[in-house]
Parts: sequence; structure tokens; C-alpha cells
Amino acid sequence: MTTSRRTLLAATTGIATAAATTTAARAATPATAAGSSRTGRHQPPVREHFGTLDNGDRVDRWTLANGGTRLRVLSYGGIVQSLEIPDRRGRSGNVSLGFDALDDYVADSPYFGALIGRYGNRIADAKFTLDGTEYELPANDGPNSLHGGTKGFDKRVWDVQPYSSGPDVGLTLRYVSRDGEMGYPGTLRTRVRYLLTPRGELRIDYKATTDKATVVNLTNHTYFNLAGEGSGSIEGHTLRIAASRYTPVDKTLIPTGELARVAGTPFDFRHGKPIGQDLREGHPQILRGQGFDHNFVLDKGITDRPRQVVTVTEPESGRTMRVATTEPGLQFYSGNFLDGTLKGTSGRVYRAGDGFCLETQHFPDSPNQPGFPSTVLRPGKTYRSTTVYSFGTER
Ligand code: BGC
Repeated sequence: MTTSRRTLLAATTGIATAAATTTAARAATPATAAGSSRTGRHQPPVREHFGTLDNGDRVDRWTLANGGTRLRVLSYGGIVQSLEIPDRRGRSGNVSLGFDALDDYVADSPYFGALIGRYGNRIADAKFTLDGTEYELPANDGPNSLHGGTKGFDKRVWDVQPYSSGPDVGLTLRYVSRDGEMGYPGTLRTRVRYLLTPRGELRIDYKATTDKATVVNLTNHTYFNLAGEGSGSIEGHTLRIAASRYTPVDKTLIPTGELARVAGTPFDFRHGKPIGQDLREGHPQILRGQGFDHNFVLDKGITDRPRQVVTVTEPESGRTMRVATTEPGLQFYSGNFLDGTLKGTSGRVYRAGDGFCLETQHFPDSPNQPGFPSTVLRPGKTYRSTTVYSFGTER
């Protein structure tokens, strides 16, 4: 949820105590071997040194394990570096695209696994007006600003602390984005919590407060391939999205403002179909995005609790993923701009369509589109958003 609606439930205390640092991660729990049993018992997250940035900042990698799922998260960008889940025969495999080394993330990553902020997706002409003041942002995608600008939340070092709640094991990540950073008004205090349950769920809770009116749209940019990272095309995955409308885009991928019906178009995933089925049909919107790179208007709208909106099945491995969210939108991106120049953790090269993203969000360019749900956050209010990815297998 958003800014505006959930704001009435504002609870700022958690954020107030979050003295976040943008530099090295602080000391954490004693390291023991990461692991868990299928009984649901888990061990505390394990921290290890992952690399050092040019400015000397230390980057850690945290490993969490619970109920057969293993997750690796970097303090740099809050990046999901790997996510290992069993296939139908119980064999574990990494289903998230990424790199082995910090340098690769810093040099040239298309947001693999990263936390995206302050504003996920595009803002037209890299500017918006709020309360009569125009704010200019860095343009990093043609004329537009994409994913928070040239140095968004994906390129910041987050403060990471272990967190657990009953049988669930997790991490709390904090980042303070100063007033004016990347052109946005207001100091934004952001807290993101990754939580692994023993039932094969990865839950991400986002929370933020500001000291001046601003815009916020947080998401995670994991590229999934349920057959295994580096195993080739995702076109055979079956995808179902509970959305009767989507937001068509102009030639720079900014929504035109229309909420178009999916019925009778390649965007109709309501009953489930292989991702590749209609990709080559020549629909003008698919040509524009070089594949799917569109925001789906989720039928359920904004909800207080996460509601299921997506099911994905990969027939060979039998792996399944369900996505539930409180957000009203979902950017389905079919990895169109992967171009065979990046080598992933498996040592294999990523080509177009080798991974897909399901970015739960408010709609792109909302700060300039009065007809879209608002992304404005005001002082005294709390931004909250939750997305849950649930993994399983089918026979
Ligand atoms: C966008 C794509 C972009 C990708 C980043 C997605 O969220 O919609 O257009 O290329 O992120 O690589």
C-alpha cells in the first residue's frame, strides 16, 4: 500500500529508532553454519565479507536458510544474490539471476535482485511537480528517470541486521536517503524486511517515512528462472496474472494514461499461458517493449493485506511460484534487454528472455499522472507495502 491510504495507520516509532548508516554494515550475530531442518527450525543469518567498494565501504553477504529454502542477500543494494529452492525431485537450485562478485554488480547490473527506490520504474522527462514545486531528477533512460536515478537505492550500502520472528528468519535493512538525493525532496527513512518462512515463502515488507512531502514507490527487481538461473529461456514458464487491464506505453515506455483491457491481446494472462505464447505476434505494445515490459493493473487494487495475484509454473522442474501483494500494480518484464554480454553465477551467459521480473508497485510515472493511485508520502504518514513470493512444486 501506499503512501496515502495506509498513512492513516501511521506508526513512526520503528523508523525513529532506525539510525541507519549508508556506509559499512554493522557487526551482527555470531556466524554459524547457515542451515535449517525441514521441521522448521532455523539458524541465525550468517554474515560474511563480500567485497569492498572503491570508497572503502565494506559490503557483506548474508545467508539465510529455512525449511529447504536458502537466500543470499548483499548489503549493497539489498540485492537478492541467490535464492535456492527444491525442484519436484527435491533437488535444490538457484532460481534468481545474479553475479558472483561485487565488481560485476557495481560495473553493470540491470538491477539483478536489487531493492529499487526511491521511485521504482519510470518518471517521464525526469521531472515532476509536487505542491507547486517542480523537481528535476537525473535522466538515466533516454529522457526519463528510471528506478530512482543514476544512483538509486540499488547502488547504496544498506545497514543490515538479523531479525527473527518465531519460526521465521530474516533481515532488517535500513537506508536513509537525504533530502535532495537524486533530486527527490525530503529525507526518506526506509526499512525493508526480508523474511523466510519454513513453508517456502519469501516475504518482503517495505516501510518509509519522510520529513517533507515526496514520492515513493519501492520494489524488488529479482529476475527469476524457475528452471534454474543460467538454464536458458523462460518462455516455457506458465504465467497467470489476475489483471483485466494494463497500462500501454509510449515509445519511451511511459504509460499513455489509458487503462487498456487485456481481453483479446497478448496481455491476457488471466487464465494462465506460456510466457512465450504470444510474444512474436507483432502486437504494437510488445514491439515497443521488445517483449513484455508493462505494468498490469491488478484487479484487486490496493489491499491492506497481501492478496495473491500471480502464479508461475515451470513444467520441467515442477517448481511453482505464487506472488501476493498489497500493491495495485505489477511490472511484468520478460528480460528483453539481457543481451548476451553478462555472465551469471552459474558461469553461463544471460540472453534475452533468460529471466523475468515481477515488480510489485504503484504505476509507472504516477507523479505525473493524476489519474493513477497516488505515490505521494507526507510527513507524519507511513508508507507500507508487502509482497510475498511462495515457492512449491507440482507433479
Ligand atoms: C524496466 C525495464 C528495464 C529493466 C532494467 C524494468 O523494471 O521496466 O524497461 O530495462 O527494469 O533493466
